Amino acid sequence: MSTARIQDPELLPDDELDRSLRPRRLEDFVGQDSIKDQLAVSIAAAASRGEALDHVLLAGPPGLGKTSLAQIIAAELGVPFVQTAGPALERKGDVAAFLTALEPRAVFFVDEIHRLPRALEETFYPAMEDGALPITVGQGAGARIVTLDLPPFTLIGATTRSGLLTTPLRDRFGIQHRLEHYDPEHLARIVRRSARLLDVAIEDGGAEAIAQRSRGTPRVANRLLKRVRDYAEVRGGGVVTGVVAAAALDLLEVDHEGLDRLDREILRAICEKFSGGPVGLSTLAVAVGEEQDTIEDVYEPYLLQRGLIERTPRGRAATRRAFQHLGLHPPGPLALL
Ligand SMILES: Nc1ncnc2c1ncn2[C@@H]1O[C@H](COP(=O)(O)OP(=O)(O)OP(=O)(O)O)[C@@H](O)[C@H]1O
Ligand SMILES: [Mg+2]
Repeated sequence: MSTARIQDPELLPDDELDRSLRPRRLEDFVGQDSIKDQLAVSIAAAASRGEALDHVLLAGPPGLGKTSLAQIIAAELGVPFVQTAGPALERKGDVAAFLTALEPRAVFFVDEIHRLPRALEETFYPAMEDGALPITVGQGAGARIVTLDLPPFTLIGATTRSGLLTTPLRDRFGIQHRLEHYDPEHLARIVRRSARLLDVAIEDGGAEAIAQRSRGTPRVANRLLKRVRDYAEVRGGGVVTGVVAAAALDLLEVDHEGLDRLDREILRAICEKFSGGPVGLSTLAVAVGEEQDTIEDVYEPYLLQRGLIERTPRGRAATRRAFQHLGLHPPGPLALL
């Protein structure tokens, strides 16, 4: 498969990289200033009262720092961080095992919370609201319900698809933040910080070139940095300059807008196969040979943000910019977009 599909974790198993570059404290977390300010206040208030922080919902596309922020919140509160993911919780007993073992005020992080089985959501309601966990003891006629008292805790849910959360669950998070794509200045700071940690010699021009083409995503910026470093070592005298970075990124088929090959395939399919759209997501997924979820979670948010596609009630449509980006002539009616 293509090396250009930089945001597919399976193709690039760089979990190690994610972990080693993960910011540990709020002050190391670059950008998202308003979210950081608000969290700092909430954290300080909870800490001074000696209470658990309100439950927190972090939403946003992959790689923007949800897991990092959740870990930082636990670190700033000075409490344990216990982690699981929605699909890993299958039965009520799984949830009970986690919740009853929490230390007081601990952070319980549920990644991909939109993939929590519906039946389990209701287990979370009393746990989140009243620190109570009703469980059924025994079977058949002798079965009875016992309510366990839970230690106070903070549930942090992360989701790439907040739209899939039910309203009752979403409403039980007192603190809700949506992470947005990063601008090139912040990404350049992240690249310089990562370069320092990885001991990579980089010039400002190199950091800016990588930032420019990282589709607004810190994880992508870090991965590109690693690949650009390889290139710099082999062909560029070891230093990541602007010129070296540009050459490496061209080789990786990441274009000036930060689009990789699949981004361009999606645009090309809409523009050429479907005459600019609108085209339904499932049809589009088949046309480019990619999972519908991946397109919706990973690719679409950035293409929307760059104004290259639009969501319409009848599907996705290419904008005039998309045609221009691909060097194509937009058909007449699209002049309206
Ligand atoms: N604001 C930031 N400052 C510095 N580095 C960051 C920031 N946000 C993310 N990163 C870097 O990007 C990597 C990916 O971030 P993280 O794993 O927290 O994203 P995520 O939103 O949880 O992604 P996913 O939805 O795929 O789980 C981190 O390991 C970290 O190195
Ligand atoms: Mg994560």
